[in-house]
Amino acid sequence: MITSMAPTRAPLPRFPHDFLWGVSTSAHQIEGAAGERGPSVWDAFSAVPGQVKDGSTATVACDHFHRYREDVALLADLGVGAYRFSVSWPRVHPHGDDRVSAEGLGFYDRLVDELCAAGIRPLPTLFHWDTPLAVEERGGWLNRDTAARFAEYAAVVADRIGDRVERWITLNEPAEHTLLGYAIGEHAPGKELLFDALPVAHHQLLAHGLAVQALRAAGARSIGVANSHGPTWAASDAPEDTAAADFYDVLLNRLFSDPLLLGRYPDPIGELMPSPSLDADLKTISEPLDWYGVNYYQPTKVGAPGLEPTDFNGVTIPPQMPFAPRDIEGYPVTDFGWPVVPEALTELLLAFRDRYGDRLPPIMITENGCSYEGLDDQDRIAYLDSHLRALHRAMAAGVDVRGYFVWSLLDNFEWAEGYSQRFGLVHVDYETLERTPKASYAWLRDALRGQRG
Ligand code: BGC
Repeated sequence: MITSMAPTRAPLPRFPHDFLWGVSTSAHQIEGAAGERGPSVWDAFSAVPGQVKDGSTATVACDHFHRYREDVALLADLGVGAYRFSVSWPRVHPHGDDRVSAEGLGFYDRLVDELCAAGIRPLPTLFHWDTPLAVEERGGWLNRDTAARFAEYAAVVADRIGDRVERWITLNEPAEHTLLGYAIGEHAPGKELLFDALPVAHHQLLAHGLAVQALRAAGARSIGVANSHGPTWAASDAPEDTAAADFYDVLLNRLFSDPLLLGRYPDPIGELMPSPSLDADLKTISEPLDWYGVNYYQPTKVGAPGLEPTDFNGVTIPPQMPFAPRDIEGYPVTDFGWPVVPEALTELLLAFRDRYGDRLPPIMITENGCSYEGLDDQDRIAYLDSHLRALHRAMAAGVDVRGYFVWSLLDNFEWAEGYSQRFGLVHVDYETLERTPKASYAWLRDALRGQRG
């Protein structure tokens, strides 16, 4: 039981009655049971000393694989209408080829059954960064063939759980996976290819398009993607800073959404993208989507690069990159050091609507959340409350948003940060694996009751 001197808040504005409320997680970050699946790039990356800050791995994580019933009960008690989780590719295809693990696929079958029995809609993401190691050893996302392998995997999953799944997500945040995983090496597979990482972006997009076709062939009716987006602010009006900010905006905000929604790459990316069949690929990539998922955390301030690497939130940006992120001052920050700027969510959604117009399908906020320590997490409540109000303002201004998912249900393995950042509505004791709902969980449960009432 959490007692606190919580500030009194005005009730949230009313969202549409059919608005989809949910929470998000990902397989590698919560499942554990690493011995019961094939190895992924993250297992190999985490095993190298120094790659993950606290030296931890996701071998056990939250042990969700064995405790999913308890976690679904937490979701039911929270009162969400949907649960976004990811399917682990190496759990389904442990060898990274077409051999299927009945045990692995069976887990998602049971999870989906458990969710349906609790009246919660399953929203699976097919890829949240945990590439099977065997696929990586064949070139991973630098290899065009990975796109075709991914579509085959999508078909296998759809065949097994598609009868109970209404909405699908193909990829999570291909921009982060390309930049952090292949361009600057802060994430698995730890490659530092800088602009030679661009094929990774193209192959993920192609994988997305082929997976959309495979899912539709298997009867899927509602398909989206989850991309990270945030406004990019120039560090000053100086032309070198605005040029750097524009370039960063292209990489973060448009490299994926332009081909998906407009069927073309933004300048100057098209010229840099090595593909033997760019036009045909772009046609596949821009298969119409039923909705578009936005993950929002923070805006970024960007200036011209310096001569030295820039250390930003613990990520090292080499001077060869044509931009350097800067601190945003004047806002509170989370325990991760990320600025809390709810109005940037409104700004982002309005800019999206203006940029894509009729080509933009309905939006779903597929991730939004923050890292704070403690069970009495009033700062997380303030963060969620302010972002939901900012979202409502964008909707009142005409942006068609159909759902909102909090990142995350549980504290979990926060990639290169290990277990040092806590994003959960539910605290996890990593020694005992005991789950304890935080004050933010109670707040969200009450807010959702308010919306229903
Ligand atoms: C990712 C999550 C991650 C969260 C917080 C998102 O970029 O999809 O996996 O835990 O941000 O860093």
